[in-house]
Amino acid sequence: MASSAHPAHTLAVWYQKHQRRLPWRQTRDPYAIWVSETMLQQTRVDTVRLYYPAFLQRFPTVQHLAAASETEVLKAWEGLGYYRRARHLHAAARQVVACHHGCIPADPVQFRALPGVGPYTAGAVMSIAFDLPVPAVDGNVLRVTARWLGLAETAASPRLRRQAEALAAAWLREVRPSLLTQALMELGATVCTPRQPRCSECPLRPGCQAAAAGRAEAFPLPVAPRVRPHVWVGALWIETPLGVVVQRRPERGLLARLWQLPNIEGEPDEVPDARRRFDLLQTLWQQVWGAGCVPQPADWDCCAADRHEFTHRTWTVEVYRCSRQESLACLDPDKYEVYPRDCLTELTWPRVYQRLLAQLLRL
Ligand code: ADE
Repeated sequence: MASSAHPAHTLAVWYQKHQRRLPWRQTRDPYAIWVSETMLQQTRVDTVRLYYPAFLQRFPTVQHLAAASETEVLKAWEGLGYYRRARHLHAAARQVVACHHGCIPADPVQFRALPGVGPYTAGAVMSIAFDLPVPAVDGNVLRVTARWLGLAETAASPRLRRQAEALAAAWLREVRPSLLTQALMELGATVCTPRQPRCSECPLRPGCQAAAAGRAEAFPLPVAPRVRPHVWVGALWIETPLGVVVQRRPERGLLARLWQLPNIEGEPDEVPDARRRFDLLQTLWQQVWGAGCVPQPADWDCCAADRHEFTHRTWTVEVYRCSRQESLACLDPDKYEVYPRDCLTELTWPRVYQRLLAQLLRL
């Protein structure tokens, strides 16, 4: 390639040769691309690779997705986390069917008006599916831009975002948008990586400011690590001849409307000792059964445990069995349900509970 080629061309040529074969790159269907970009926003490529084909098989068109119930959609999303994305995608599919004759609008303004569609999703779908020159700036593109321009900004900086949008917009004029958008993401994901970037393999190296200074890894500037409170969660495994006691999470907030075992949380960053854990479990027991009998410490048995890191907190969930029994007649039917043990996996559970169930169902 001539050394005077525009960097966008050099990048596109590199992408055509080096791109990974990913399932969403084998299609031009805007619906399928929209699904993939929604999944990829907060979930790693390796995880999305596993769930994406099954999701599309289950809901092959926007009409299929719109016709499904929310429960069906959440079940197919299980394992991808951040379930709000699935609810938005579902609501948006219904709008596409109701207001756009089932066709994804090839217009950034109309597409952005759909639930859950932000500037990134709009840029990605408009450019990849319709070849429209709309920038899609994700973390990869911010990093490539910070290095290319040698900008001493953090990834959260509005100035860096503006520069990344301007750079992508300028380069989108040079090559086919579907190639350029994916090439920038691919470069960030495979070469211009956060740590140990492979500058010697990079097609943009000749014009890269950070590489010229030998400091690619220093850009963008680091941000202080997020302080994530750690929360201990005590949960109950109550198995009766009719099934296991389960509960739906509240309508709003973290993991809204997913299923869980009855549970109680300690204070943020508290590390409860045995006595405190017993007190919390006792409180939980009374919440579930009303007054009832009072278990003793020796009645409890921790039968499963796991840990989960959310963006804003970490949970350590310990599941306890109690050797005492109460009558199911004492359960508040507005708060709890008894679900057959063999059917528990039909419900949609947060990921940490899926892993716990795998342990508990072996008991
Ligand atoms: N991350 C976000 N969108 C992507 C895509 N289309 N391919 C690979 N990684 C991505």
